[in-house]
Amino acid sequence: MKKLFMLSLAALVFAPVVYAQQPAQSSELAKFAPPMIPHPIAAYIPITPEKNACVMCHIPGEPGMKVAKGSPTPLPPSHVSDGKVNPNRYECLLCHAEVLPQK
Ligand code: HEC
Ligand code: HEC
Repeated sequence: MKKLFMLSLAALVFAPVVYAQQPAQSSELAKFAPPMIPHPIAAYIPITPEKNACVMCHIPGEPGMKVAKGSPTPLPPSHVSDGKVNPNRYECLLCHAEVLPQK
């Protein structure tokens, strides 16, 4: 009986470890995961209360806005409040990371 208890306890403890390694459905993940930054950012940091170079290019998106290929992705609605960058999203690098080029 005790052995059985320990066994189920072990299963409980290790289950999350096993399941955490299953990749999420990419479309599901995309709703929550910040996309990687596909360009160098050295010239744009640090982000300070006075200056945020990221939003020079990444302006708040508007419904129906057309974006030419290769131009900066507009900020999604989740990043915008009252037409401005939502203060919770101001510090871009809390969530977004730069993809470093392969050597
Ligand atoms: C000089 C203009 C410019 C600045 C400044 C800039 N970006 Fe970008 N960014 C771009 C362009 C252009 C793209 C799209 C590149 C592409 O489509 O290949 C992009 C793409 C991105 C993406 C990917 C979006 C997606 O849909 O996958 C993220 C995230 C991003 N930038 C974050 C940042 C952050 C954070 C900063 C500040 C540290 C920053 N960018 C500063 C021009 C800029
Ligand atoms: C709290 C975390 C967080 C912060 C801070 C944040 N982002 Fe994001 N960002 C996300 C997530 C999550 C997504 C994908 C889901 C979504 O669109 O909301 C995203 C999506 C994006 C996209 C892609 C939009 C698209 O249509 O594909 C761009 C561009 C972007 N962020 C730029 C920025 C910039 C620039 C800043 C700073 C001004 C910033 N983000 C701050 C979490 C964050």
